[in-house]
Formats: sequence, C-alpha cells, structure tokens
Amino acid sequence: MSTSILSDSVSLGENTRYGEFCVFGENVTIGSGCVIGHAVKIHTGSVIGDNVRIDDNTVIGKLPMKAANSATTKEQTLPPATIKSNCIIGTTVILYRGCSIGEKVLVADLATVRENVSVGDFTIVGRGVTIENFCKVGRYCKLESNVYLCAYSTLEDRVFVAPCTATSNDNYMGRSEERFKHFKGVTIKKGGRIGVNSTILPGKVIGADSMVAGGALVTKDTPEGKIVAGSPAKVWREVDSDQLLKNQGWPE
Ligand SMILES: CC(C)(COP(=O)(O)OP(=O)(O)OC[C@H]1O[C@@H](n2cnc3c(N)ncnc32)[C@H](O)[C@@H]1OP(=O)(O)O)[C@@H](O)C(=O)NCCC(=O)NCCS
Repeated sequence: MSTSILSDSVSLGENTRYGEFCVFGENVTIGSGCVIGHAVKIHTGSVIGDNVRIDDNTVIGKLPMKAANSATTKEQTLPPATIKSNCIIGTTVILYRGCSIGEKVLVADLATVRENVSVGDFTIVGRGVTIENFCKVGRYCKLESNVYLCAYSTLEDRVFVAPCTATSNDNYMGRSEERFKHFKGVTIKKGGRIGVNSTILPGKVIGADSMVAGGALVTKDTPEGKIVAGSPAKVWREVDSDQLLKNQGWPE
C-alpha cells in the first residue's frame, strides 16, 4: 500500500512514478514520464510538464510567508507554481507558488526560488542558490552554488554568476521611508559574467558581455565588453575577443 496521499483531483500523466510519503494537493497536474522521489510535497494547483525529475524532500508551490515586520512581502494572490517539461529539480529544493520554471532547467539541491520569479529555458540554478521575489532570470543562464540574487533583479540571457556572489537592493539597510523610493535590485545584461565571491551594490547594471573579476565590489554600472576588478571595481581591460558571446557560435 502506498504511503503517499494524492488529492482526488490530481492529474497524473502516463508512466509518471512517485515514491513514498508524497503529498500532492488539489488540482495538481503532472505530465507524463515524470520521476518523483520520496516525501515530495506538491501544493495546490501546481502544474508540472512531461519528463520532469523531482528528487526527495522537495516542496513545489510553497506559499510565501509574511513576517509581522516585513517591508516587502505583501498579501497577494499568486498563480500556481509551474515547471515546464524536461526539468531536473534536486533534493530539498523549495519552489514557491508564483514561480515559473522554463524547459530543461536544472535546479540543484537546496536551492530556493521565491514567488513572482521566472527562470528561462536551459538555465542552471546551482546548489543552495537563493532567488528572491520579483526576479527575472533569462535563458541559458548559470547561477553557481550559493549565489544570492536579491529581490527585483533581472538577469538577461547567457548570464554567468560564479559561486557566492552576493547582490543587494537597499542602500538604506531597512531604515527611513526614503528607502522605498530607491529600493532596486541589480541588472545583468546579456552575457554578463560575475566572478566568484563578488558583491554588487543596489541598482547597479552589469553591461552586456562585461566581466566582473573574482572578489570585486561593484559600486558603479559596468561598461559593455569590459573587465572590471577590485574594490571598488574599476575598468581593467577588454574582455578577450574569443570569450565574447558573439564568438561562441551559440544559438540565440
Ligand atoms: C579576471 C581574471 C579572469 C583575470 O585572469 P588573468 O588575466 O589570468 O589575470 P592574472 O592572474 O594574469 O593577473 C593579472 C594581474 O591582475 C591581478 N588580478 C587578477 N585577478 C584579479 C582580481 N579578481 N581582482 C583583483 N586583481 C586581480 C593579479 O594580481 C595580477 O596582478 P599583478 O600583475 O600586479 O601581479 C581572473 O583573475 C578572475 O578574477 N577570475 C574569476 C574566476 C571565477 O570567478 N570563475 C568562476 C567559475 S569558478
């Protein structure tokens, strides 16, 4: 006898398998050929495509929590979480209600993707990555282990963010009413690359195909196609032409 609990209104596609101790809520739709591990919780209304793998202990469609003292999380009605076909979702991942995950995306173990976030096709969300609310992540991006992407950030396509990069959105650090006017996440334009353990200050724009060297502190927008380095980061030199996006022969 199965130890899993499926609501009567769950729709399961052909050849989809699930392990023990799973709970699938009302009106959950799961496509065909999916492989779902043990103790996976899929909340009400979540929509999952075909051939999706979801590993043990993962939670899909978690409702946001609003702290009594939260400045940014509002009461809101959110659409269900959606995961398109051919994705791999690791173990102990948390995908909130109101997030949408494109096709062939990999979300590695322990990552969290908040509400009002979209992740484009073919993107990799690495181990332990946090994507806060109201972020847009493009196609073919790579967010390596433990990247912290703050709320209201935009990553265009083909962006690479190395491990432990931290981004920020509030220069007022939670003080004064003035802060609400200036609250702004970071933008990384198409093909921008961020080196390991960099810090990007609120509202900064990383130019297309620009590279931030490891350990940099980005206090100004960075120009297209240039490497910036140091603390504060200064323009160092051009990105080598063999590394430019246009010279990789990749599809758009
Ligand atoms: C920017 C980078 C690619 C440049 O590499 P490079 O051209 O081989 O640079 P070099 O190692 O020859 O160093 C040249 C000079 O720049 C300095 N330098 C190199 N990287 C630096 C950095 N991140 N910040 C500050 N100075 C740096 C070096 O100390 C050296 O100075 P010197 O001439 O006074 O000795 C590299 O240093 C870097 O930061 N890589 C990030 C790697 C990363 O995050 N990868 C992600 C996947 S894990």
